[in-house]
Amino acid sequence: MAKKFYIETLGCAMNVRDSEHMIAELSYKEGYEQTETLEEADLILINTCSVREKPVHKLFSEIGVFNKRKKDGAKIGVCGCTASHLGEEIIKKAPFVDFVLGARNVSKITEVLHKPKAVEVDIDYDESQYAFGDFRSSPYKAYVNISIGCDKQCTFCIVPHTRGEEVSIPSDLIVKEVEKAAKTGAKEIFLLGQNVNNYGRRFSGEHPKMNFTNLLRLVSEVDGVERIRFTSPHPLHMDDEFLEEFANNPKICKSMHMPLQSGSTKILKAMKRGYTKEWFLDRALKLRQMVPDVSISTDIIVAFPGESEEDFEDTMDVIEKVRFEQIFSFKYSPRPLTPAKDYEDQIPDEIGSQRLTRLQSRHNEILDEMKSERVGKVVDVYFEELRPGGKVAGRSDNNVMVQVDGSEELLGKIVTVKITDAGRLSNFGVVIA
Ligand code: SAH
Ligand code: F3S
Repeated sequence: MAKKFYIETLGCAMNVRDSEHMIAELSYKEGYEQTETLEEADLILINTCSVREKPVHKLFSEIGVFNKRKKDGAKIGVCGCTASHLGEEIIKKAPFVDFVLGARNVSKITEVLHKPKAVEVDIDYDESQYAFGDFRSSPYKAYVNISIGCDKQCTFCIVPHTRGEEVSIPSDLIVKEVEKAAKTGAKEIFLLGQNVNNYGRRFSGEHPKMNFTNLLRLVSEVDGVERIRFTSPHPLHMDDEFLEEFANNPKICKSMHMPLQSGSTKILKAMKRGYTKEWFLDRALKLRQMVPDVSISTDIIVAFPGESEEDFEDTMDVIEKVRFEQIFSFKYSPRPLTPAKDYEDQIPDEIGSQRLTRLQSRHNEILDEMKSERVGKVVDVYFEELRPGGKVAGRSDNNVMVQVDGSEELLGKIVTVKITDAGRLSNFGVVIA
């Protein structure tokens, strides 16, 4: 009987892709099969996130539970960003852990599996040209990494310490992967990196000069690719050429993630984000002008050290002006290895909670105002998922989740739909073509 593995993935889309890579390596090289039942697994993996403190705390209680529930002889591996950051400390604190595999060492999964108490967390390890086996969780869309690591050093962020220096993956490898995905039914390609629009900053070997805009053009020329999404771009690198490509290339989905972090120029400076409130507003409003139906999402951190009431009002002002379709909002969490944790003027937790509530309530009001504007709109929906009650769900080009009455035959198809009923997150419609 084949050995089985169980995998839990926390955190961002890059972690989802890293898990897919591990699944491919384990299946093709080691003959493992995936199971959803922890108790029957011979190998239990947890792919961790370390961006905020809470999930890191939860990790140790969670692997404690895994250890109690696992079958005799099953191995436990801790992977991902917390593995990179804590390294062998994890085995010291939880001696039942069999190996620790960093976020930049994914290709070594089949090695650590056979080395008792292995800790592979080398931050300089170069996987940018490693050819992972093919595996994707969805038949309809494919995640494709275009760069690894991040050079930005935002003062709140641990990622540069867990994923290391930024290296771009050679464009010919990216195109090959996209071609394979498109040939096997993925009409939608999701390009991934911590800082995608800084693509081409550094390659590990010889490579012709290339930027993200050029890469988007290359990917959009691949036969069978109908939709391109990407995450995350950095507002600083949203130059006119990039915005024009985004607006004019019909294969690029009209939804953009623009991580604001703060609306205050003073706080943005302390965060070392490299742009001002005015630059961000200029880019976002220009984008709305160029692509009237664009949907813009963002990440916001409240209560960064030194954030005054006035600074927070600047953030509220940006959400008023941009009217984001989606906001991922967080209370600032001091992280080891980052400069901001030592900044004076850390903000009391209750103030952070109050600001987060204010931001989220106002955003919900904005969403309520925006949802009625969606009714009657005609959108192209790529159907991916069956839902209870005879419904099928998919996303519009501009990232609106829409459900219609229907069954399997709609799955994997891009169909024109008229929105008849709009909620904050879920919308209903009827197929018109
Ligand atoms: N480059 C990535 C950032 C990864 S971290 C991207 O743009 O998606 C994802 C988000 O987590 C960040 O955009 C930020 O809003 C939030 N975050 C990062 N560090 C944080 C911290 N110390 N406290 C609170 N939120 C944080
Ligand atoms: Fe983090 Fe800033 Fe990079 S948020 S991942 S250091 S762009």
